[in-house]
Parts: sequence; structure tokens; C-alpha cells
Amino acid sequence: MTLAAAPAPTFDKGLANTIAAETQMSFIDGGKGVLEYVGIDIDSLARNSTFEETVYLLWNRRLPNRTELAAFTQSLRDEYELPEGILDLVRTMPREATPMHALRTLVSALSLYDAEADAEGEEANERKAIRMLAKTPALIAAFDRHRKGKPFVAPDAKLSMAANFLWMLNGAKPTDAVAKALDVCLILHADHGLNASTFAARVTIATLSDLYSAMVTAIGTLKGPLHGGANEEVMIMLREIGAIDRVESYVMDRLARKDRIMGFGHRVYKAIDPRATYLKTFSKQVATDTGNLGLYEMSRRIEEIMAREVAAKGIYPNVDFYSATTYHSIGIDLDLFTCMFAMSRIAGWAGHCIEQLDGNRLIRPAAAYVGPHGQPYVAIEDR
Ligand code: ACO
Repeated sequence: MTLAAAPAPTFDKGLANTIAAETQMSFIDGGKGVLEYVGIDIDSLARNSTFEETVYLLWNRRLPNRTELAAFTQSLRDEYELPEGILDLVRTMPREATPMHALRTLVSALSLYDAEADAEGEEANERKAIRMLAKTPALIAAFDRHRKGKPFVAPDAKLSMAANFLWMLNGAKPTDAVAKALDVCLILHADHGLNASTFAARVTIATLSDLYSAMVTAIGTLKGPLHGGANEEVMIMLREIGAIDRVESYVMDRLARKDRIMGFGHRVYKAIDPRATYLKTFSKQVATDTGNLGLYEMSRRIEEIMAREVAAKGIYPNVDFYSATTYHSIGIDLDLFTCMFAMSRIAGWAGHCIEQLDGNRLIRPAAAYVGPHGQPYVAIEDR
């Protein structure tokens, strides 16, 4: 019997035209600017849902009833606390370390305190996903307080994930409006198809490694300025511009130099990113309430100029553009912005890993070799 010849692989730089996985979590229509989680429009979720309920939806492919939501929320709250060994590790970390390096290290370290770290099977993975999702806010808050020389704040299991994070970060209970603003950002960032960090997580879990390793891979991938690091770059840009009358010359100079305007453009969306549509209205409200309207107005001006100059190329604001103003307005430090993204996206990463393991196949694309052939081996003394 002869094996049928496999079709020759084709080269697809950046994998833009490759479908590499199936998912039941999020649907994206980049041309129309649509994003749905399990068939529900993102705008509707941002207006009506909570982060906890959205995670339940993503992981169970349906909305919970009241009893299910209460039980799921409690299972997260039961896991808010960090092991003492993790707090000891935070205390030894250099204060000047980048928060994303600290977060990646600390999520990795959490595995050392989880007896199920290498346990296989969907139920064990779901328990680990809950632990990682519930503890990540505490990791970020603990590192931030450590670097500022402040004592740790113990989690409050009566609070939502968003409110509890702000409590542990600031040592003060947030207002409902501020907690809601963070909750909305968490909903909007929870999942997004096969983005770079999700793909990285799926590659790792597909080797039958473990969920902690997959989350660490994903955090490292998210950190890059072309992916989750862009929200930080947006804020840096807004600071550099400084005043609304400097926006036009700043944007035009950058475009003339062929530099990118951070928070614009997307591999998938060639219309406005639907997460940005919602955040645009929402961040105006948050910025007004917190005395940051100037920042919002600068952002709007950048958007107008970009629409005039590059919308024809399909470049519009992405989720990072208005989330930067939102995070700043609710008092989150600039270098924690990407950690906020990770705090939410753990939901998507973990959900994708569990999907990947159902009917798993190793993810192993090919590389086109473009080097020389037939070279002699030259002894070291003759080189
Ligand atoms: N500002 C100015 N021009 C841009 C921008 C931008 N932000 N993004 C793309 N372009 C231009 C490119 O210069 C290129 O123009 P050309 O055809 O004249 O050379 C064209 O649009 C296509 O750009 P590519 O880099 O090929 O698009 P790709 O799909 O590979 O990149 C990406 C998408 C990486 C997001 C890109 O738009 C970018 O660098 N944006 C800024 C960083 C950013 O905001 N990242 C966050 C993405 S959202 C997220 O990860 C949550």
C-alpha cells in the first residue's frame, strides 16, 4: 500500500491566511467589525454582563442561571488568596523589575504550590484555570505594592474580581463606577480568536505540557508592543503629545516617517475594532468623571486624523487605543496596563487550551529552508 502524498505546504508569512484551530468561544468578522463570545455580541456583554459571568459563558458555552453564577463566582473567590511562599518570592523581587516580567515569573511560580500542576484531564484543568484566573490579580497587586514599599493587602472575598483587584492594589475600596470601568475592560479583553498569545498557549498545551506552562508562554507573547504591550505605548504617546494642539503635527510627522501610531491597525479588523467602539463612548464617561477629559479629547483628535489619513488602508482604532485612557482614568499605573490585559485574557487562554486538548494534535508547521546546501565541514583550525 502506498501512502497518498500530503499536499505541499504553502508559505503564509505571519499565518494571516491559515486557520490553525477550531473554537467555540469567540467569533470575529474583521470586515464588518463584529466580535461575539459564544454568539453574543460584545457590545451587549459589555453593557449587561460581568467579567465572572462572561468567563462562565466562555468556558461553558452558555450563560449561567443565578445558582450557577453564584457557585462559579464563589469558586473564584475561594481562590483569591496567594500561598505564603509566593508572597515571600514577591518580597525578594527587584523593585525596578518590569511588572510583566514579574507577572510571568509569578504565574510560573504558582505551579510550584499547586499539587495538581501536572494533573491531566478536563476537570483538573478547569480547577487550575480557576486558580490562575483568581490569583492573577493578587500577583499583580502584590508586586505593585512591593515595588512601592507598601504592605500587601489581603483579598476581600466579598468583592468581584475587578473590585477586589483595585482593593488589593490601592488598599481602598473603589467606587462602583471605577470597579465597573475595570470590569468592562476585563469583559472586552477576555477572548479574541487565535490571537498571537492564544496561539502560543495552544502550541504549548498541544505538546501535552501543562496549563501553567501554557499561561507562561502566553504572558510572554502578550508582552510585545505589537500585541498586548500596545496599550502602554498608547499612553506613552499621549504623554509625549501633551496637548491637543500638538496632535496634528505629532501624528503627521510619525506617518511621514512611516512610524506606527500605537493603538491603530489590526491583523483581523479592517473596520473599527468593535471593542474600541464601545470603549470610545465608555472611556469618555470615565474620563469626564475622573477629570481626564483632556486625554480623551486628544485621543479623539488622533482618531480623526488617522481616519482622514489612513482609514482607506483599513487602519482604525483597536481595543488598546481607548483602554489606555480608561486605565489611566481609574488610576492604574502605565506599566500595569498590559498586566490588566493578561488578568482578563487568562480566561481565553485557559479556555482555548482545554478546547485544544479535546481531540489534540501537535501543532508543528514547517519552515522553508533558505540557506545553502552541500557545504563542506571545515575543521576549526582551518576556518
Ligand atoms: N499606524 C500606521 N500605519 C499602520 C499601522 C499603525 N498603527 N498599522 C498598520 N499600518 C500600515 C503599515 O505601515 C502597512 O502600510 P503599507 O502597506 O503602506 O506598508 C499596512 O498598514 C499594513 O500593516 P501590517 O504591519 O502589514 O499589518 P499587520 O496585519 O501585519 O499588523 C498590527 C497588525 C501589528 C496590529 C499593526 O497594525 C500595528 O503594528 N499596530 C500598532 C500596534 C498595536 O496597536 N497593536 C495592538 C493590536 S490589538 C491587540 O493585540 C490587542
